[in-house]
Amino acid sequence: MNNYIELIDKKLNEFMPICHPQKIFKAMKYTVTLPGKRLRPVMCLESCKMFGGKIEDAIPTACAIEMLHAQTLIHDDLPCMDNDMYRRGKLTNHMVFGEANAVLAGDALLSFAPQIILKHSKNLGAEKLIKIMEEYFYAAGAYGVIAGQVVDIESEKFEVTQEDEQLPEILNYIHTHKTADLFKLALRTGAIIADAADEQLKEITEFGQTMGVAFQIADDILDVTSTFEQMGKTLGKDKEAEKLTYVNLYGLEKSKKDLNELLDKCFDILKRNNLQSEIFEQILNKIRIS
Ligand code: IPE
Ligand code: IPE
Ligand code: MG
Ligand code: MG
Ligand code: MG
Repeated sequence: MNNYIELIDKKLNEFMPICHPQKIFKAMKYTVTLPGKRLRPVMCLESCKMFGGKIEDAIPTACAIEMLHAQTLIHDDLPCMDNDMYRRGKLTNHMVFGEANAVLAGDALLSFAPQIILKHSKNLGAEKLIKIMEEYFYAAGAYGVIAGQVVDIESEKFEVTQEDEQLPEILNYIHTHKTADLFKLALRTGAIIADAADEQLKEITEFGQTMGVAFQIADDILDVTSTFEQMGKTLGKDKEAEKLTYVNLYGLEKSKKDLNELLDKCFDILKRNNLQSEIFEQILNKIRIS
């Protein structure tokens, strides 16, 4: 895993020279290169490898997905969204570059990322590139992360009432789109690059959906139980903002139980498909909370 992370960090740096106007390139590079866990690009490389592809072929796509992820973080932290001052242990993008530049840096990353794929993955051929672009634009846009974020914001200050039978469904919608869609993007593009069969794509999609939702449940739990030192961001904000999170809807105990069941399901999906990956096992075990 550390080898992957080193490679991703080196390539991210290479793919992002500071051009003119420097302000925007610096703002873009700032959040991308802060030390995140690099989960999504690692998942893209590992999915490619697991299905028999060469990881070199997946590097531009993996890096582009990390850029897209950074874009979602920059915008998620804005005063008009979650209003956060810290990210990855440092000041958020708008705290350093100002709100206007943070909005623009996010916008710029959204189109910069697919350009990186197109520029550096010509060897994959037009057919695969079109498939990757379809996946990217689905996950990045109004059917994907944006859909999740809109409903996340809209659901603030929710109150549990008798009629709210729909809340579990709404919460699942938020988690699916704001988080699982990027996990699926990483896994599916890795698989596409490796020429995985349709059935394999279907299975890896279910894996990503389950792991993405589990990851967001863990994030909701850690917002209550963890510390700034561990997470590099201000915690306890979900309760304050009365967000529709797993913990706020179901409480801590059920959240932990459901999280661990979803992680077990992820292991089962790997097993039933005869997929062996120490890296995925490591990631799943890291997400687990006892
Ligand atoms: C944060 O994602 C946003 C969520 C989906 C909860 P990560 O926890 O993967 O953030 P980094 O990349 O490590 O900073
Ligand atoms: C973030 O969910 C999902 C995206 C950034 C798209 P959160 O708002 O819970 O993420 P954190 O807790 O700020 O990292
Ligand atoms: Mg948010
Ligand atoms: Mg947030
Ligand atoms: Mg959170």
